[in-house]
Amino acid sequence: MIVVAGTPGTGKSLLGSNIARLLGRRFATISWIVLEKGLWVQYDARRRSFVIDYEGLLGALRRYTGYVVETHWLEPFEELLDVVEGVIVTRCNPVVLLRRLERRGWPPQKVAENVEAELMGVIAEEARRLAGKGIPVVEIDTTRGSPAQNAVDAVEMLRRGEVRCCIEWLSVLQEEELGFLLEKLTTLASGVGRNE
Ligand SMILES: Nc1ncnc2c1ncn2[C@@H]1O[C@H](COP(=O)(O)OP(=O)(O)OP(=O)(O)O)[C@@H](O)[C@H]1O
Ligand SMILES: [Mg+2]
Repeated sequence: MIVVAGTPGTGKSLLGSNIARLLGRRFATISWIVLEKGLWVQYDARRRSFVIDYEGLLGALRRYTGYVVETHWLEPFEELLDVVEGVIVTRCNPVVLLRRLERRGWPPQKVAENVEAELMGVIAEEARRLAGKGIPVVEIDTTRGSPAQNAVDAVEMLRRGEVRCCIEWLSVLQEEELGFLLEKLTTLASGVGRNE
């Protein structure tokens, strides 16, 4: 199983489906698996997300060994080390991610939460924990470039066992970009401008 992980909107579906096509594998997302197999116990309307039947999910994932699986949640895979061939983390410049997520019409707080998570590299950090347990992990920047080329690069790096990390947006971004982002995040998180 090849796991494609990343903050929402960083390009997991595009990259993951391209990787699946390239390798002649099937593609699934953890959300499809949860919905299709009825692996949720309740819906949390406030967070617009499902509360998962965790043990059920672990069992189900074991039946997806040859797949490319998309997730923004890596915790279950820590218990599936024997079937995970590698993890590809999609990264996206938070300034660009902000635009991608705003276009989706998500609630401002949810946009802010996810842009902040990408800025801080929350999922990349979780992936590094898997790297520490011997799983090959590469990070792919999807800010620009074609998903097809990104897929070729990712597969090639995994094949070579190359471990490529660690994009740190806090060091990469210019001071003005950071200033813009922090101001924007404060506004979004406070819900100001909700109806603009
Ligand atoms: N490599 C890329 N180059 C340019 N734009 C991209 C790239 N990857 C993704 N995008 C843009 O980002 C958007 C989100 O991509 P995608 O749906 O693949 O993200 P995701 O991580 O799967 O999101 P979600 O977590 O909601 O499932 C796409 O509609 C596309 O506009
Ligand atoms: Mg997706």
